[in-house]
Amino acid sequence: MKLTKRYFATMVFGCQMNTSDSERLSGQARRLGYTYTDQLSEADLILVSTCCVRESAEQKIYGKLGELKRLKQVNPQLIIVVTGCMVQKNREALLKHAAHIDILLGTHNLHQLGTLLEDIRTVRKPIVAVWEQAGKDMPEVPILRRAGVSAWVPIMYGCNNFCTYCIVPYVRGRERSRSTEDIVKEIRELIAEGFKEVTLLGQNVNSYGKDLIPPVEFGELLASVDLMPGIERIRYMTSHPRDVSDQMIETIHSSKHICKHFHLPIQSGSDEILQRMNRGYTTDIYMELITRIRRVIPDASFTTDIIVGFPGETEEHFAQTIELVEKAGFDAAYTFLFSQRSGTPAAEMEAQIPQQVKKDRLARLTEVQNKISLAINKQLVGTIVSVLVEGTSKTKSDIMMGRTGTNKIVLWPGTLEDVGKIVQIKIDTAQTWLLKGTKII
Ligand code: SAH
Ligand code: SF4
Ligand code: F3S
Repeated sequence: MKLTKRYFATMVFGCQMNTSDSERLSGQARRLGYTYTDQLSEADLILVSTCCVRESAEQKIYGKLGELKRLKQVNPQLIIVVTGCMVQKNREALLKHAAHIDILLGTHNLHQLGTLLEDIRTVRKPIVAVWEQAGKDMPEVPILRRAGVSAWVPIMYGCNNFCTYCIVPYVRGRERSRSTEDIVKEIRELIAEGFKEVTLLGQNVNSYGKDLIPPVEFGELLASVDLMPGIERIRYMTSHPRDVSDQMIETIHSSKHICKHFHLPIQSGSDEILQRMNRGYTTDIYMELITRIRRVIPDASFTTDIIVGFPGETEEHFAQTIELVEKAGFDAAYTFLFSQRSGTPAAEMEAQIPQQVKKDRLARLTEVQNKISLAINKQLVGTIVSVLVEGTSKTKSDIMMGRTGTNKIVLWPGTLEDVGKIVQIKIDTAQTWLLKGTKII
């Protein structure tokens, strides 16, 4: 019998948790004998990781899934597996929109890929394999990462916060922490493979370890990863402003490798809206936290997430958001139009805001934040920053790209030799989202 090579491709939407899940699916595909390809048209197996955090994400994904139909017509052997948060949320709608899907695989049972690929040979209709919640002892699966400098490491899954706008707790289930041993083992292997930076992932990393026996603090995990030989940089996301402890700030301050970058989603500058979002802090508590961090780590950078047009958001509430943004001085803000997610309390709230009003507020907010980002970046012109080199820039092969510990993107003329190294770059020009410079050492 002639053995033909079989290929698999991936499509990833949404957050880093999906990137990480996709790496775990890729690892299984490789073990099953498939080879990775970045050409969808060449693939015999396509693994799609979906996101449903906002309606715009879902619409984009429906469009992309539609495009896969043509590939299936060309290659009837092609198997399309759709996983991720949309599968947990609305599998009927997915099958209705895209009848060419072969397998719907839930986020809690990714480890079943192999068995399902066996089953699909004999079953003609689409297989729906979606666990409603995570099993007790989830098997660890092989991981296939793209070779590189920086790796994602999930430390916990799910979320217990139930912010009233957010679908994530419904589709990712309750918080479950991985054991510190498993995490450290994975990072040790990553270092041996040549990775220099890890980002510890969770929807709310400050809650890490509360469910472990005995419980472990996130700060303790950070401290033990900091001590691992060969690690250059440690990042984490996302931390909830409500439970950043002094111990955690101190650990970051006294560590050698933990980046001095704080991504702390504020979501709104109005206490009333924050309360209706169920965020569990006020703007005073938030600002006090930023001040507390700056006192200990003066050169820390701060980024945030903001939603505009939450139900009932008046011009006054929005003005408070602008005011907070001006006061906080974020290095960058990721801003979103509120999106009604069915099943969440906010979707049912009165006084939904018209789309045009939301768009108008978003534009005004972006303008204010962009000015601040640019002003902060301009202060770096003439200084020398330490950059971990990741690779070439997106468009030019003789321009290198890397990040500062404060998570700023830096570009400079250079060569691939430096990839994986920490180099010193003198900043020559600053833009809103990036810095450009010259290599010193
Ligand atoms: N767990 C992370 C974020 C997950 S979602 C955290 O709590 O920070 C990433 C961002 O998407 C959120 O911070 C929020 O700003 C935004 N988001 C979530 N649900 C949304 C919705 N229904 N409409 C608009 N933006 C939303
Ligand atoms: Fe969603 Fe809130 Fe959980 Fe973040 S903390 S995932 S915004 S519910
Ligand atoms: Fe999207 Fe799911 Fe992440 S809804 S943002 S992919 S956890």
